Amino acid sequence: MIGRLNHVAIVVPDLEAATRTYRDVLGATVSAPQDLPEHGVTVVFVDLPNSRIELLQALGDGSPVSNFLERNQAGGIHHMCLEVSDINAASLSLREKGARVLGDGKPKIGAHGNPVIFLHPKDFTGCLIELEEVTD
Ligand code: CO
Repeated sequence: MIGRLNHVAIVVPDLEAATRTYRDVLGATVSAPQDLPEHGVTVVFVDLPNSRIELLQALGDGSPVSNFLERNQAGGIHHMCLEVSDINAASLSLREKGARVLGDGKPKIGAHGNPVIFLHPKDFTGCLIELEEVTD
């Protein structure tokens, strides 16, 4: 079912500082920040030869990453995103196997314009997993 690692997402308290760390200390190519109000985050993409890292900062009140940041004040790994070829088939198959899909179970459009779902970390070795439909 799962394909390539699409990204690892890291929640950070200070996006400018995190950008400097990845760009100036680690020498990575880093995008300009993008506000995604519908997801409650501002995101910076760090391009890697084989994948990418997303640096997420809370945007607005009630951001889905605010609670995480309260528990992890220095920031930390928030989720990893794995690619699937058919998000609806993946969601159905996972629910049939007893896995919990977060929210109403229906795909939403993610940061890259593709449909995504999130899977309950307690069903997946303590890791929040995002599945993103990528058709290439
Ligand atoms: Co993500």
